[in-house]
Amino acid sequence: GAPVEVDISKLEPGQKIDVEWRGKPVWVVNRTKEMVDSLAKIESKLTDPDSNGSDQPEYAKNKTRARADKANILVALGVCTHLGCSPTFRPDLAPADLGADWMGGFYCPCHGSKFDLAGRVYSGVPAPKNLDIPPYKYLNDAVLLVG
Ligand code: FES
Repeated sequence: GAPVEVDISKLEPGQKIDVEWRGKPVWVVNRTKEMVDSLAKIESKLTDPDSNGSDQPEYAKNKTRARADKANILVALGVCTHLGCSPTFRPDLAPADLGADWMGGFYCPCHGSKFDLAGRVYSGVPAPKNLDIPPYKYLNDAVLLVG
């Protein structure tokens, strides 16, 4: 499939947009500073905090564990690594259904897998590894090219 251009100029902090690349959903999230800072606090609850087990381009490999070329912008494949459902964006803190220690992330409704705001999987859920990160680059400050 061809690369996909994504206009991120109107993507406000805390917002997510979905694009399609190679027939799959790709999420682009403009993470707030609080969201990025939260990533360091939940490492003890994750299966693979360093993201060693997932596909991701080298430039997104960890980078203070935010898994992104630019720390605030997460680009991730929106496909659960368990059986391929598309998880739901749940940026809300401590919602009633996900518990008091939920720091925001992605929740898979199919079998309950939980991912943080860097797409890293919590331990104790069916998904075996973190969400994959597709290749991408910035054409300029406003335009991202996925693929
Ligand atoms: Fe997501 Fe099973 S497909 S938890």
